[in-house]
Amino acid sequence: MTTSPAGRGGTAAPARRETFSSRRLFILSAIGSAVGLGNIWRFPYVAYENGGGAFLIPYLVALLCAGIPLLFLDYSVGHRFRGSAPLSYRRLHRAAEPIGWWQVLICFIIAVYYAAIIAWAAMYAWFSITKAWGDDANAFFNSYLQTADTAGVSFDFVSGVFFPMLAVWIVTIVIMVAGVNKGISRANAVILPLLVVMFVILVVQSLFLEGAMEGLNAFFTPNWASLQDASVWAAAFGHVFFSLSVAFGIMVTYSSYLKRKTDLTGSGMVVAFANSGFEILAGIGVFAALGFMAVASGSAVDEVASGGIGLAFVAFPTIVSEAPFGAVLGVLFFGSLVFAGLTSLISILEVIVAAFQDKLGWSRKGATLVVTIPIALISLVLFPTTTGLYLLDTSDAFVNQFGILACALVTVIVVSAGLTSLPRLQRHLNKTSSLKLGSWWRILVGGIVPVALGYMLITEVQAKSAEQYSGYPAWFNGVFGWGMAAALIVGAVLLSLIPWSEKSRLKDPEYDEFDTAAKLEGDVDNNLKEVK
Ligand code: ALA
Repeated sequence: MTTSPAGRGGTAAPARRETFSSRRLFILSAIGSAVGLGNIWRFPYVAYENGGGAFLIPYLVALLCAGIPLLFLDYSVGHRFRGSAPLSYRRLHRAAEPIGWWQVLICFIIAVYYAAIIAWAAMYAWFSITKAWGDDANAFFNSYLQTADTAGVSFDFVSGVFFPMLAVWIVTIVIMVAGVNKGISRANAVILPLLVVMFVILVVQSLFLEGAMEGLNAFFTPNWASLQDASVWAAAFGHVFFSLSVAFGIMVTYSSYLKRKTDLTGSGMVVAFANSGFEILAGIGVFAALGFMAVASGSAVDEVASGGIGLAFVAFPTIVSEAPFGAVLGVLFFGSLVFAGLTSLISILEVIVAAFQDKLGWSRKGATLVVTIPIALISLVLFPTTTGLYLLDTSDAFVNQFGILACALVTVIVVSAGLTSLPRLQRHLNKTSSLKLGSWWRILVGGIVPVALGYMLITEVQAKSAEQYSGYPAWFNGVFGWGMAAALIVGAVLLSLIPWSEKSRLKDPEYDEFDTAAKLEGDVDNNLKEVK
């Protein structure tokens, strides 16, 4: 396939790839992506389900040994190969393209349910003002979602979820159509500072609640026994990847929009610590509030709320009802969820939009509309239904614990195979970064992470297949859990078989220049001695 320059031979060269206009905007957008529902809604409930304080140690180990090293890996792949996930992996190695599509499909699954949670949160910010749930937040949550008694028996329409979801999709699509600088950067530059202010006020308010210390004790007391439980580790690794937005294309895509000379590892550290700081802060806020609930009801912290997906939407409203200035607390909490969720949803969708833009040579606007509208429709058909909650629970569990972990495992195996890519990527990172990576990075990414992920995946598959997830019907978990996870792999291979269009970015003179410059600067494999 050849691409002739614009205006000659009928095939135009692809339009210039957009870049973030400054490193600050990239960092803001990357933090906006990382800090999302994962930090505020998911982290407290996953921590709660995996033994509360017990979760903190596997979480920190996963963050330092796998999350941050893989964040650097994503940055190096996206920045060095300057493309969406499929294009970057294709440039890394022809046979690696399906990895990129696998990541794109993971983003598709996350996007369709993510919008539903943002919509619930938006409604709950509103409900907080009147404390609409009365004195039974659990019953209110189920009646708001009109949840069926059993998973999968009815897919009846729930208008109270549909309309806010529609609004979420419209806002997101409008931002995305405007592109990387006018849309994504601007949205993050406005939303992120607001989110930080709201969240800090929320956490401070929670810490002043009576019983807050009880909650914090539960959160920070390690439970050594649970360290022997492989599924706690799998939950920690799956969560860290989800939360940092690594191993499913987001950071590959965002770093592909960076200018050539950028401090990659320095930016990565800022993003990782901002994300975890926010997450730990969310844990502190939620557990302090749970401590208040425990003291108020005279029970232990781990008994006050049922865990699971509804933790934020059941425990928090109860606290809002009882705490001084509860309505403020509620608006701040659910408003933070909406803001954090929106900037992450944008980044999740960007992975898909960029992939089709690169492969088929579509314009920004065209790709955004053609990609996001069908996704919005699928999301709007499946989630505002009486089975929506179960569907969300199963997709979230399977796409994180299997999808992202398995995809991360295959990625690290592929980049370590042949022993040339990792040193090359390491050199690329070290060339322009303030924090120079040593051989420890290659040992972690190429040795320790694959072994740990492989072990966790095998034990997780054994555990999950031995029992029905969440007690849902076998057919339901089969279709929406295992079936979905397997379909992503098949879909990824099929998408990679579609030929690259004549107008695609595969042959891009702009990239060729970049590639030549990178090689001249020492990014060649015979330069191994540079690697310390
Ligand atoms: N990183 C995003 C989150 O934490 C996806 O929700």
